[in-house]
Amino acid sequence: AFFDEAPKPLAGRRAIVTSGPTVEAIDPVRYIANRSSGRQGHAIAAALARLGAEVTLVAGPVNIADPAGVTAVHVESAREMLAAVEAALPADIAVMVAAVSDWRAEDAAPQKMKKKPGEAPPPLKLVENPDILKTVGHHSDRPALVVGFAAETNDVAAYARDKLARKGADLIVANDVSEEGVMGGQRNRVTLVTKDGAEDWPDMDKTDVAERLAAWIAGRF
Ligand code: CTP
Ligand code: CA
Repeated sequence: AFFDEAPKPLAGRRAIVTSGPTVEAIDPVRYIANRSSGRQGHAIAAALARLGAEVTLVAGPVNIADPAGVTAVHVESAREMLAAVEAALPADIAVMVAAVSDWRAEDAAPQKMKKKPGEAPPPLKLVENPDILKTVGHHSDRPALVVGFAAETNDVAAYARDKLARKGADLIVANDVSEEGVMGGQRNRVTLVTKDGAEDWPDMDKTDVAERLAAWIAGRF
């Protein structure tokens, strides 16, 4: 078939991709989560696998199938996602696409919280989740190439440069999510930010962004 005959520039390389949202329990029936279909992250995992990489996809809860040719690890919370990513090290490439919940409930209730007549709603105390990209970017087993994403609604390139430095990434793929239909949609328009500058890519299907990003990554090896 076509893919079997395609060149495999990433043969022998290991890649870890995170995708989808994380969900953080408040109690057994309620949670905090981010909006993310997993479409972009899953497409990147598939594209890297087609170029020959051995891919571990660490995915939060999504409604799309595991791509062919990748090892999928399913997680729910940010802490589970971090543990699965660290368990998949060492790797040559890390692409952190997941929309990780920045916060979780400090104490998830073991039992369903009940409304109590005449009482105010319960307070929700949040604590910060671990930053998976930042942990990988500064890891003793750091992959040679660490890629992050940045969904912004304004000052896209400036925030991306800040994230590049802060998180120890080699590349930030930034997108403007104020544009209609990016979150959960099929298409994406991204800006690649490295220490050398910024490169705007035209609006394309998320699968084309994935193909082109995988080729960009292969070009670095
Ligand atoms: N990320 C992560 N772990 C977190 C938060 C973010 O791995 N706890 C990763 C995302 O997968 C993405 C990158 O960091 O690759 C940027 O995520 P983003 O939410 O844009 O950055 P934050 O540092 O959380 O900053 P903010 O949400 O305040 O813009
Ligand atoms: Ca965030």
